[in-house]
Amino acid sequence: MLKPAMGPPGGRQTPLCRRDRSLRPLSAEHSSLKETIGFLRAWLRDPLRVAAIAPSGQALARLITSEISGGTGPVIELGPGTGVFTRALLARGVKTEDLVLVEAGADFAEALRLRLPAIRTLCMDAERLRTVTPFGERPVGAVVSGLPLLSMAPRQVLSILKGSFRQMAPEGMFYQFTYGPRCPVPPEVLRRLGLEAQRVGRARANLPPASVYRIHRTDAVEQAAADDAACPRRRA
Ligand SMILES: C[S@@+](CC[C@H](N)C(=O)[O-])C[C@H]1O[C@@H](n2cnc3c(N)ncnc32)[C@H](O)[C@@H]1O
Repeated sequence: MLKPAMGPPGGRQTPLCRRDRSLRPLSAEHSSLKETIGFLRAWLRDPLRVAAIAPSGQALARLITSEISGGTGPVIELGPGTGVFTRALLARGVKTEDLVLVEAGADFAEALRLRLPAIRTLCMDAERLRTVTPFGERPVGAVVSGLPLLSMAPRQVLSILKGSFRQMAPEGMFYQFTYGPRCPVPPEVLRRLGLEAQRVGRARANLPPASVYRIHRTDAVEQAAADDAACPRRRA
């Protein structure tokens, strides 16, 4: 479990924990320091699942959400951690009721529910995405993923992408970041699911620098162009 607050030096822990649970606003710096420490602790407990020693920075959060707006429709975020991308999505105009977070770490999930109570957080493995329909019949416009795909087996990556695209509209986009030199979804997984990946850009200011990929159905781009020609619209 993530400790919601650090105790005073050499003192008792309870008063600060209670203060955190009452959701008293914290200064941005205090809150971000707490999140960074909580993140590091989570990594120490489960390095393979967390796969980073600190939350992503603002530059990466802006990049991975850059094509999303309030008009995208429902959005699912996978592996939100402390919620850096979640806040960027809200800043882009995504409504709280249009956002669902899927987080496997009970520590992160509990902290997200406390800090962002208006957003639904599902504490579950993203591999089980096919078993839930958080938006009912409404197709999802985008999935934003902070999952450590490079530490997962291709079989797991396949089932996460399959579950995601099952929820998505035909032109839905899956956004994934990576510290690696290429798209972290194996080419055979993309081929098998009829998907393709394009690089959106690179956040050099992130530590370490990271790239963002947009993954979509192979025919989605031609379909979107045909739709735009038939009925021009503003794309996110
Ligand atoms: C690299 S951290 C990214 C956190 C956050 N998005 C960020 O960029 O700061 C990976 C996150 O994915 C979560 N995670 C890892 N495997 C998962 C899985 N199979 N299902 C859901 N969440 C998972 C971890 O608990 C962690 O919150």
